[in-house]
Amino acid sequence: MKFLLRASPLVLALCFVLVAQAARAPKSAVFNSPHDFKTTGEYSPGGASYTLCNFCHVAHKFGSAPTGPGYLLWNHKLSNVSNYGVYTSDSMRSTPSDLGGQMTVSNLCLSCHDGTVAVNSWYESVAGKNFQPLPQDTLFMAEDHTARDLTKQHPINFVYPDATTAAAVGILPAADTNSIDGSGNVPLFSGRMQCATCHDPHAGPSSGGHLFFRTFPSTAAQTTTGSFCVYCHL
Ligand code: HEC
Ligand code: HEC
Ligand code: HEC
Ligand code: HEC
Repeated sequence: MKFLLRASPLVLALCFVLVAQAARAPKSAVFNSPHDFKTTGEYSPGGASYTLCNFCHVAHKFGSAPTGPGYLLWNHKLSNVSNYGVYTSDSMRSTPSDLGGQMTVSNLCLSCHDGTVAVNSWYESVAGKNFQPLPQDTLFMAEDHTARDLTKQHPINFVYPDATTAAAVGILPAADTNSIDGSGNVPLFSGRMQCATCHDPHAGPSSGGHLFFRTFPSTAAQTTTGSFCVYCHL
């Protein structure tokens, strides 16, 4: 007991260091990022009184028959694309399912990033400026913008491999169905890998973020290679 008491400040200090290395970005880090449609960039209407968050989430959907999903209080109109295609290969063990018509966090990204829905299409109106869909050269689907094609992108919307399969394909096994690291820094969604496993849509430059990447827990392999890919691909 005495030993434990004496050891605990050290243990706490170590925990703090580990947490500090892979902290989740605060939601406020969306301020002044490319996802801040209130204050920055060509999409900003400027000076309006609605909040930073309402461009994506809204606390209440009013009216007698409010439209839009309840999921994450989502406020940006979802895309109607019904077939995005899925990545396949001879070696891949996991089986992604098509995002068309689904309600996952990746569909939330694609509501803007498949380029079919104007950036200012909301269930509850928040701005007056007539935005257009994202310009073709800012979509991540670099190969063929018009086909809304996910076959050439890193696989998403599949159940993250279990420990046995992960070992067989050289992947870090997930700590639990909520995240790979067990602390929510590299999250899974109902056990599935999604866009938001790699990206945090709130993690703007003020959180040290680049391209809204999550802060992956630091590993020796990452330090050596300078690549977050090797956090999962061992
Ligand atoms: C550009 C769109 C966008 C904006 C702006 C945005 N969010 Fe989000 N938010 C998302 C998406 C997409 C998800 C689901 C992916 C995830 O969990 O990170 C999400 C998830 C969340 C979650 C649940 C998951 C978690 O990480 O806790 C909360 C809470 C949240 N957002 C709060 C906020 C707040 C508060 C703001 C304003 C400061 C905000 N968001 C601004 C897109 C946005
Ligand atoms: C959060 C964990 C994670 C990160 C980070 C990650 N991957 Fe993956 N990746 C996976 C998983 C899981 C699979 C599916 C493996 C399987 O089922 O065989 C996969 C699949 C792949 C595949 C297809 C493998 C095949 O057999 O066809 C490639 C290639 C790949 N990733 C490359 C990358 C690259 C390059 C990066 C960095 C830009 C990266 N990955 C980052 C988890 C990750
Ligand atoms: C409400 C619309 C909207 C939603 C929802 C949204 N984005 Fe974006 N995103 C944008 C816009 C607009 C830009 C800026 C494009 C430009 O450069 O003109 C952007 C930029 C980005 C960038 C590039 C950032 C940079 O620094 O250049 C990434 C990466 C990104 N988004 C990922 C995501 C991911 C992942 C999600 C879901 C978790 C998501 N976005 C959800 C509208 C959205
Ligand atoms: C395995 C991790 C991973 C996943 C999953 C992932 N991305 Fe990315 N994303 C990256 C990397 C790495 C880049 C940097 C550019 C590159 O490698 O092509 C990037 C870049 C981007 C960009 C910026 C493209 C540009 O031209 O500036 C956008 C937008 C984006 N991703 C959106 C998404 C969306 C939407 C999804 C889900 C459909 C997604 N990402 C899933 C790793 C990922």
